[in-house]
Amino acid sequence: MSNPLLCCGKGHLTPHDSEKETLKPNKKTKKKSTNKMEPVFVNGNHIPAVCPFSGNSAESVNDKKNLRVKLNQPMKLRNYLDSSLQTLDTLHTRENDIALIESRCTRVVCSGSVIDIPRPDAVRTPEEIYCDAEKFFKEYYASIRRENSDAHRARLQEVKAQLEKKGTYDLKSPELVYATKLAWRNATRCIGRIQWKKLQVFDCREVTTAKGMFEALCTHIKYGTNKGNIRSAITIFPQRTDDKHDYRIWNPQLINYAGYVQEDGSVLGDPGRVEFTNICIKLGWKPTYKMWDILPLVLQADGKEPEFFDLPRDIILEVQMEHPELDWFKELGLRWYALPAVSNMKLDCGGIEFTATAFNGWYMGTEIGCRNFCDASRLNILEKVALRMGLETTSAVSLWKDQAVVEINKAVLHSFHRDTISIVDHHSASEQFIKHLENENKARGGCPADWVWIIPPLSSSLTQVFHQEMANYYMKPSYEYQPDPWKKYNWEKSEVKPHRKFHFKQIARAVKFTSKLFTTALSRRVKVTILYATETGKSEQYAKELGTIFGHAFNAQVFAMDEYDMFSIEHETLILIVTSTFGNGEPPANGQDFIEHLFQMQNMENELNDSQSAPSPGFRTPTPKSLMRTNSVMSPPPTCKRPLSRVESNRSTTGDSSIEHLGPLSNVSFAVFGLGSSAYPKFANFAKTVDRVLGELGGERILEIATGDEMFAQEQEFRVWSSKIFQVAAETFCMEENMLTDARNAISKLPLTEETIRFGKPSTTVSMKQALESTYKRQIIPSLVKKVKRLGDNTEDRETIFVDMQPRDVVKYDPGDHLGVMPCNREEIVNSVLKRLKETDFDVPVQLQVMKETLSPLGSSKTWEKHERIPAVSIRDLFTRFLDITTPPSTTVLKYLAKACTDVKDSLKINELILDSDKYDEWKHFQVPHLGEVLEGFPSCKPLGSLLAALLPTLQPRFYSISSSPLAHPKHIHLTVAIVFYKVRNGSGPVHYGVCSNYLKNLKENKDEIFVFTRRAPTFHLPKSLSVPLILIGPGSGIAPLRGFWHHRKYQIKELSKKENIGQVWLFFGCRTKGMDIYRVEKEQAVREGTLNRVFLALSREKKDDNKYVQDHLREEGQAITRMLMEEGGHFYVCGDCKMAEEVQQTLKQILQQHTNFSALEAEHFIMNLMDDNRYHEDIFGIVLRTAEVKNASRETARRTRLESGQSQS
Ligand SMILES: Cc1cc2nc3c(=O)[nH]c(=O)nc-3n(C[C@H](O)[C@H](O)[C@H](O)COP(=O)(O)OP(=O)(O)OC[C@H]3O[C@@H](n4cnc5c(N)ncnc54)[C@H](O)[C@@H]3O)c2cc1C
Ligand SMILES: Cc1cc2nc3c(=O)[nH]c(=O)nc-3n(C[C@H](O)[C@H](O)[C@H](O)COP(=O)(O)O)c2cc1C
Repeated sequence: MSNPLLCCGKGHLTPHDSEKETLKPNKKTKKKSTNKMEPVFVNGNHIPAVCPFSGNSAESVNDKKNLRVKLNQPMKLRNYLDSSLQTLDTLHTRENDIALIESRCTRVVCSGSVIDIPRPDAVRTPEEIYCDAEKFFKEYYASIRRENSDAHRARLQEVKAQLEKKGTYDLKSPELVYATKLAWRNATRCIGRIQWKKLQVFDCREVTTAKGMFEALCTHIKYGTNKGNIRSAITIFPQRTDDKHDYRIWNPQLINYAGYVQEDGSVLGDPGRVEFTNICIKLGWKPTYKMWDILPLVLQADGKEPEFFDLPRDIILEVQMEHPELDWFKELGLRWYALPAVSNMKLDCGGIEFTATAFNGWYMGTEIGCRNFCDASRLNILEKVALRMGLETTSAVSLWKDQAVVEINKAVLHSFHRDTISIVDHHSASEQFIKHLENENKARGGCPADWVWIIPPLSSSLTQVFHQEMANYYMKPSYEYQPDPWKKYNWEKSEVKPHRKFHFKQIARAVKFTSKLFTTALSRRVKVTILYATETGKSEQYAKELGTIFGHAFNAQVFAMDEYDMFSIEHETLILIVTSTFGNGEPPANGQDFIEHLFQMQNMENELNDSQSAPSPGFRTPTPKSLMRTNSVMSPPPTCKRPLSRVESNRSTTGDSSIEHLGPLSNVSFAVFGLGSSAYPKFANFAKTVDRVLGELGGERILEIATGDEMFAQEQEFRVWSSKIFQVAAETFCMEENMLTDARNAISKLPLTEETIRFGKPSTTVSMKQALESTYKRQIIPSLVKKVKRLGDNTEDRETIFVDMQPRDVVKYDPGDHLGVMPCNREEIVNSVLKRLKETDFDVPVQLQVMKETLSPLGSSKTWEKHERIPAVSIRDLFTRFLDITTPPSTTVLKYLAKACTDVKDSLKINELILDSDKYDEWKHFQVPHLGEVLEGFPSCKPLGSLLAALLPTLQPRFYSISSSPLAHPKHIHLTVAIVFYKVRNGSGPVHYGVCSNYLKNLKENKDEIFVFTRRAPTFHLPKSLSVPLILIGPGSGIAPLRGFWHHRKYQIKELSKKENIGQVWLFFGCRTKGMDIYRVEKEQAVREGTLNRVFLALSREKKDDNKYVQDHLREEGQAITRMLMEEGGHFYVCGDCKMAEEVQQTLKQILQQHTNFSALEAEHFIMNLMDDNRYHEDIFGIVLRTAEVKNASRETARRTRLESGQSQS
């Protein structure tokens, strides 16, 4: 066995002596080993002597006498045009990853130019398969950062078990996707590998018939062709089990022109396809004997007889050739197809062989211009063209061949370009490949490449690759040649199959009507992952709705971002994001890890890129936290170049080689919908950040980000977006129109009906604590209410209360953490809804059940299953504790209410709201109707409680910043709560009451029990050291966590064993009038005790002309604040509503500029660094106070913006 490293085609390079150092016989070459652990080779597979599969020792059959280079020696590879491109290949030294092959090279002969390197084709033993599988899974799990994990070990066990049972095993879908891309990456002869991450995989392993193969390949051709904007794709059919049941595509390429030998010996058509044309004819295909006949697809499923199928001409895109200057060129009548799709190679990965695959990229011009048109064994048009050009063809020295071939290649590029069909010229391809080598060297220490094949056939030495040394070695997974199937085929027994002719539409229709199950399987090939992050449940609701829509045509899965395995993201096909924004432009809690992971990926990408684009000195890479919390101007410029869109990257006819770097998500298509409220300064900021980062990581945005503003038409925007994205996704993945009808019908229908939902008898009863825990997936703590008292003066629109409770269980928390409270809806609203339901018994436990229909060969069967979200409690409890009946109903709920009306006038009125989005929005924001009022407005509406319960959103817990300290108030929890109440219809309607704040206000001391849970707020904790100064800013109820701080600190100081330097604590509080100065007495006492050093009170309505806000006091103390932050390591805490928090941040920026020589940008950076150091803390409540003011203003702006942009839709 010889070493493939020596076969890199160096003989074709100008003789340099650079390689001498690697070619020199190496004295340290390993001797033939007698060690039992030495690797051995069976069927060309590298098998460790002690096989982990069988545990047996295998005999060494390896003869290494030809091994002239010690494998683990890095290899210097020079570029003779640009010495800076010199690299060191270390990849080949990873002995375990390099597959040794039976090459034709010997000790004295390099066979680098031999095209067909035979690979073993014998059926593999389980031992051989396992050895490859082990290597593959090592690489796969390393790629998802799980090498040697339990999952990795378990997977190997699973593989072993499958091998023992059936002699082979199945790859999971993400593993197959990974393998196909890696095999491309390892394809030594391919110059276009810079695109290796961008490959659409059609997993067709469920196909069992030749007809099924044909349909899948038609889909592939359509998808890959994409009206000329070619997309790389691969289709994979079932793997080899034994060699009697192989799947094979007999065609060398999916699209081929026939070649017919004429009586005079000349060939009509493509001489390169004469042999295969004859095979088709032998199988019974009836040719028309014309130039440019497309050969049928000859397909063999499960080792059965091959069948042939005519390709529908309407799916084949062809280019008619013309020359930009030579008018006569088009008279030659030349053409070529747009999609080069190799279909006779085998994918070899993890020991598994996929014998039927079809893979396409896009053409490099010379493949057509030089090889197909000018090879003497192909169309051979060179002389004809030269004569038309008037060249002297009798003498080689006139270089007529060279002149003609250039014009032919110009014509090819020009014609593809004219039709805007993807093609790349050889100069650009060469530059891209050099860039790829560079990328690969950084990413994995080298890139196996076959110089003989990489250098283009035209103007070789004018391209960069010609001057580049390359190392040729063989890695798996790989694409392999395999013996021509007709050579193995038993022609004696052959049965001629009927000639089949279909149009693509017919195929799709046939698939649809003949087998519903098959349609589902077909659609399952395209996976859609829908990820949501939510705080109050809306994004989840929308994401699930989207899942239902996509489920009709795709393999759709919905996950919360924190449930999703982030390491799978690179192997996704289509990701749809639905997310809200919380805090001050931050992710909801369950989106935090997701964005951090994306930022980490981005950092890794940036590290991979060259140093010239690194951030300027002194620039600290911000953490995800600060990136999310600051304005986008503060984010570092992404160092990796903007990835090109598919259109840009594919249409590289101009010689533009700017495909510098394909990010890790370059194979992933995505779209984002962001929920938010324009009442907040950073509207839908999290969604926008996710959209940007996914794009920067190379993802392909198939639709621009859309947002739904809570202030205006959020729901309508979502509906518009969901149907648009469905359409775009269907087009992107070439779904046929008639396959989509089901989905479209489903979009306009209610997901459930009165017939498919009911209240049944529960199998067991559960306590309220258990019921809440099962719905909210939280550990609930019942707590006894000890005290509820008013804080400060009441005014007509302001009231604040203090709540003290005693949890029944031990509660661990730190000051700054949040308490989640499970509220109850007001009794009068619950009653007004219950009295309108069709059900009558409200006080016995019931279980909401949904009808599930299952299709089986025996027909359909119907069963009732528990509703996943709603627990077994009474209907009254359901509407009191679990369902949101105060938020104005969505149009989905209204749709059902319209149906539940017996008076057609009522239905019409409701339908008006559903159909006119402006009207609906106006109604929602002006009337702010709760469900009781809605039902009152439509007297004939009598809904079924079970269906209503399934359609209504879940009542959300409310969060409160804990106002107590575990040290100062053990076994108690305190809250400071601003009561929400307001008059609807801009102050002229009835009073509405905030659900939770009023629930808390009306609790009975020492009697009522409430259900709560704690939530950590690690970014709002006190620093460990007591010596650093604290600046606390919390106007109104924003004082809540700050009270916990000063009480806690008092105990911390008391417990200090030795005197320590105690930092200053300054509190900035604001309210309207002196009477509303809550906790005044406590603050005074804290000042006396020295826990608070200074307290500033900003009164905004006390005096007519001397109103102050906390920001004013901050400004006055600007110099001291600057010193505390810059010199004394101080911490800055802001708590309360979002607008105030934003204004405070801007004020601090101004202060820093005024008291230092910082520019605006430097001040921003300083604040960002404070955030990264966890010294700038924010606890944002949302818009709780000033709600009407803020809402009206932002609604007006939102409406204007929408009207101006012409987006309003009804
Ligand atoms: C992390 C965090 C910490 C918090 N800490 C505290 C705290 O310590 N103390 C505290 O008091 N609050 C705090 N809140 C706010 C608290 O969670 C609740 O949002 C608040 O108590 C209101 O809840 P509710 O159920 O009473 O009102 P809801 O029933 O939720 O009603 C509030 C909604 O009513 C509507 N609304 C209000 N006014 C009007 C109007 N004029 N016109 C039309 N619609 C209107 C708005 O849609 C508003 O969102 C915190 C919030 C968060 C996110
Ligand atoms: C405390 C709080 C902070 C918020 N912060 C923002 C924000 O910074 N930007 C924004 O656009 N929306 C913000 N919102 C509005 C939410 O994004 C909006 O209500 C969204 O519809 C909630 O969707 P969800 O139920 O999926 O979480 C905030 C809401 C609250 C209650």
